[in-house]
Formats: sequence, structure tokens, C-alpha cells
Amino acid sequence: MSRLRTAILISGRGSNMDALIDAARAPDFPADIALVVSNRPEASGLSKAKAKGVAVAAVDHKIYAGREEFERSLQIVLETHRIEFLCLAGFMRLFTPWFIEQWRGRMLNIHPALLPAYRGLHTHERALADGVKIHGCTVHFVAPEMDEGPIVAQAAVPVLDADTPETLGARVLEQEHMIYPLALRLVASGTVQVAGNRTRGAATGSAPALVVPSAP
Ligand code: GRF
Repeated sequence: MSRLRTAILISGRGSNMDALIDAARAPDFPADIALVVSNRPEASGLSKAKAKGVAVAAVDHKIYAGREEFERSLQIVLETHRIEFLCLAGFMRLFTPWFIEQWRGRMLNIHPALLPAYRGLHTHERALADGVKIHGCTVHFVAPEMDEGPIVAQAAVPVLDADTPETLGARVLEQEHMIYPLALRLVASGTVQVAGNRTRGAATGSAPALVVPSAP
């Protein structure tokens, strides 16, 4: 089986990166995590990846005159490592249309909300402030607009009365660690394909609905 050579782009602690690296250790996993790159050389995720035996690189955005110069350097690093697919995992830089075009259909992102709700930052605070009963996370292909693009997988998390942004965020993060490896598996194996703004091909679960609160 030829495995898709995948790079994970991070800016911080890399817990989603960890989940992807661990999942890709399974012999039948269709992607190989060949590289982890951070735009912040001090990101703690880099040392974690190294300890797991994954090649790492830092491309420090601060030393470049602009976004494009940074991206061209990043692109050279990715080409040097013969990378075929990208997973953004807490990567805190917006890309130019040029970079997104280079990786169209070959770049996933994870977002801590049920898109298209709560694009951007502070998703858990905003969900609590709005009083939603169901929150969650999304893995999607990257499109030029921030937090947009065909959705591959979502997990819904009930909001509890006592939730704070931290407790809710922790339960969402647990689900992120489940759906990101699932989404990469589905895409890298060719099971899921993009069709317009949707993706198709994955089996769906058997639960008819998640209802919150549950009936007494
Ligand atoms: C995650 O919540 C992810 O959804 C968001 O940034 C956070 C990164 O966390 N894009 P980690 O670095 O993967 O732990």
C-alpha cells in the first residue's frame, strides 16, 4: 500500500498532531506523517513530534518580509520532503490564495466548532454566550475564506449547565482527537471525495439524532 506523504502544520502544543501521528502508526493507515512544521520555532509540539520519531522543521514567519515570502519558504520545505498532503492542526497563520491554490483539495483543517457556526477564535466562549445546547468540532478542506471549505467530519458535543469555556473546550478537544484521524483516513484512502461544497462517500452513523437535553 502506498501511503500519502502528509505534513502536519502546527503553531503550539500539537495535541491534534499527536492524535494523527498515533493513528498513522496503524499498519493499514493510508497516510504517513512524514513531517511536522511549525511557524513558531518554540512550539512545544515540535519536540513532541521529534520524540515520536517524526521529522520536524521550523519556518519562523517573523523573519520574512511578508506572508508570501514565508509561504514560499514553507513550500520549499514541503517539496524537499516530497509532501503530498497537509493537515493544519492549530496552525495560527492565514494563507494567501497562492498557497491555498498549491494545495487545493490536498489540505485539511480542524476547527473547534460546528461550522459554519463560530468561525474564527474563542468558539467555546461564544457558544456558551449564545446558549447553544450542542457544540462541537469540524474537519474540512481548506478554501480561500477562513474556516470554509467542504466538510469531511463533525462531532457534536452536548453543552452542560455547569460548562465553562475550559470544560466545554476539553470535551470538544477529545472529539477533535477522534475525528481528525478519521477524516484523514477517509480522505487519504479515497473513500471520501469532494463534490462541490460537500464531501460524499463516508458511511454515516446509525444514531437518528443527538437531542439535548435528553428526555426525563
Ligand atoms: C484545536 O482546538 C484546533 O481545533 C484549533 O486549534 C487548537 C489546536 O490545539 N484549530 P492542539 O495544538 O492541536 O492541541
